[in-house]
Amino acid sequence: MKKVTLLLSLIALTLFSGYKAENPLYKDAKQPIEKRIEDLLARMTLEEKVMQLNQFTLGRNDNANNMADPVNDIPAQIGSLIYFGSNADLRNKVQKKAMEQSRLGIPIIFGYDVIHGFRTIYPISLAQACAWNPKLVEQACGVAAQEARMSGVDWTFSPMIDVARDGRWGRVAEGYGEDPYTNAVFTVASVKGYQGKDMSSEKNVAACLKHYVGYGASEAGRDYVYSEISRQTLWDTYMLPYEQGVKAGAATLMSSFNDISGTPGSANHYTLTEVLKNRWKHDGFVVSDWGSIEQLRPQGVAANKKEAALKAFIAGVEMDMMNRCYDNHLGQLVTEGKVPENLLNDAVRRVLRVKFRLGLFDRPYTRTTTEKQRFYLPESMKIAEQLAEESIVLLKNQNKTLPLNKAAKIAVIGPIAQTKWHLLGSWAAQGNAEDVTTVVDALKAEYKGKAEVTYALGCDFDGQDKKNFEEAKNVAANADVVVLCLGEKKNWSGENASRSTIALPQIQEELAVELKKLGKPVILVLSSGRPLELNRLEPISDAILTMWHPGTPGGKPLARVLSGRVNPSGKLSMTFPYSTGQIPIYYNYRQSARPHQGKYQDIQSTPLYEFAHGLSYTTFQYGDLKVSATQIKRGEKLTVEIPVSNTGDRDGVETVHWFIQDPVSTISRPIKELKYFEKQLVKKGETKIYQFDIDPERDLSFVDGDGKRFLETGDYNILVKNKKIKIEIVD
Ligand code: NOJ
Repeated sequence: MKKVTLLLSLIALTLFSGYKAENPLYKDAKQPIEKRIEDLLARMTLEEKVMQLNQFTLGRNDNANNMADPVNDIPAQIGSLIYFGSNADLRNKVQKKAMEQSRLGIPIIFGYDVIHGFRTIYPISLAQACAWNPKLVEQACGVAAQEARMSGVDWTFSPMIDVARDGRWGRVAEGYGEDPYTNAVFTVASVKGYQGKDMSSEKNVAACLKHYVGYGASEAGRDYVYSEISRQTLWDTYMLPYEQGVKAGAATLMSSFNDISGTPGSANHYTLTEVLKNRWKHDGFVVSDWGSIEQLRPQGVAANKKEAALKAFIAGVEMDMMNRCYDNHLGQLVTEGKVPENLLNDAVRRVLRVKFRLGLFDRPYTRTTTEKQRFYLPESMKIAEQLAEESIVLLKNQNKTLPLNKAAKIAVIGPIAQTKWHLLGSWAAQGNAEDVTTVVDALKAEYKGKAEVTYALGCDFDGQDKKNFEEAKNVAANADVVVLCLGEKKNWSGENASRSTIALPQIQEELAVELKKLGKPVILVLSSGRPLELNRLEPISDAILTMWHPGTPGGKPLARVLSGRVNPSGKLSMTFPYSTGQIPIYYNYRQSARPHQGKYQDIQSTPLYEFAHGLSYTTFQYGDLKVSATQIKRGEKLTVEIPVSNTGDRDGVETVHWFIQDPVSTISRPIKELKYFEKQLVKKGETKIYQFDIDPERDLSFVDGDGKRFLETGDYNILVKNKKIKIEIVD
């Protein structure tokens, strides 16, 4: 009888609890994800669990003939790989090994830095923000996701949402500029674009908010160094984009390199666990930055790799990116009782959860497609060109030098004019320089039959060689106007690419001075990964515009703007200082004890071009602000409106930035804070109403040093350009 009961219970167990060896519950796509996770977790050994928490790399190898080595090198149980391939072949081979040779057949998650596009490269993120068009950024990220996923990448290490206020830091190119709100808006847009509605679709990838947190505050703009961030500033300036990104459903975050006032981002229990997991309830996982666990040693908080593993893991970093700390030490730390088993289980659950959500257990392999089927789809290029067009900022346009539609001969000069490679920008993933259109080629096409476009190099990006100056002067002398294309190389921004000054190298400035002597109008076109110091170039330029690093479209959008086919509408997402010596300089600085004093003796104290500056070929006139109520109670809402008229002679697109000001509060507030923006087409002669619906709890409140929100009674100002209106919150 006993035997029969045992047998029956075994059968029941097999049937109902999914413990049937050949068809375990976790492999059943119809079961809820959480059940599948628990089922799988219960089967895993300590070693298998630990291996899920490691990420190695898988080399750039698209050659079917020599794939064996990389495949052999990868352990079948590895949790994740950084995948450098541009097609899925190698990925699928390694995945096959994981599925068939590991005991439980757990798929690998393949990650990669898809920062501003995969093959179709968009303008750098700093530029994208200047377009003030979150919908378009969402679409661009959607295209990046589609190209990446169809090439074997499941997970992008993007968006980079580090508020950054020091242009010397090379990584300002990768983020959305100096303002927390702007970064937050584009975080949400990019997460939506990458992940879509269903991360398991073959066109979406998991997003990764990075670098959590405060990396943008690296001292003196030097990479990997210390950052001094008070808790108040942490919450005021750096946390908002992450909070919003988590709310938007970002699957993962990356812990940062920087030491946050003594506790590195990758060993920070407060940010990683107390806030992210406990308060914000993030249920995905945190991956370390490359080596950021191991680097707890040189940062002086761990004596060896084992201690580094312990600190990072306990703090809340679930996956080890290329540190070799977890695979070597985590198991032992658990056995020794230093890492509680439930913490290990929680970490594994998080990694598995993202894998399940990506559909990797059910469709571990990437469908084989041709490049034509996945890259440069007509819609993808259209989005890239539109985004590049909208991100161009017209900084100066004296005497209506632009648009350039009367000149018969245009001299295009400078190191940016003929480059393809440098227009791609840093972190250009699988971007192909061959597909980039140079400025010269774009202008030749744009002015075909209308004007002659000539070219001279003038000088290199840096160095002292002036041998090409003469030729440039001759070319310029024979033209009606000079389009002077100066700027930065691709690798002058990005990781580990800090510069002591944000001025262009002297040789480029000298070329400008020489050309100006010819008396022709000089249109300065800039391409860079950061704001530049232009105080010597500005007076000798009749017009200035920046196209940043525009990506694959290269010079095409610029050509349309120069010719006037497109009216520029970009506005700066980051201040252009007058001089490098002003850094840090940003629009939302805290109030000073003596607002009218404390200036520099030798230079102006104001920036050359402030945040949100950007001109158009038409003119816009701002009317008076109108508010639905001047006094409201805490729980009530109100609306502010402003009419904007297009008083020029052509249609134009105008972005209105809405700032608030809280003149007196318990904790001193920044001089003004962006809370909303709106972009509209305003036709010639037309007036459009821009509207900001204020929810005081959301828009007028502020945080304390622990992220707690307060809404205080009293006066607030609403600001648009030089217009201001006062409202009052009462109890
Ligand atoms: C280090 C960089 O800081 C990070 O942004 C990037 O995602 C990883 N390397 C992986 O390449």
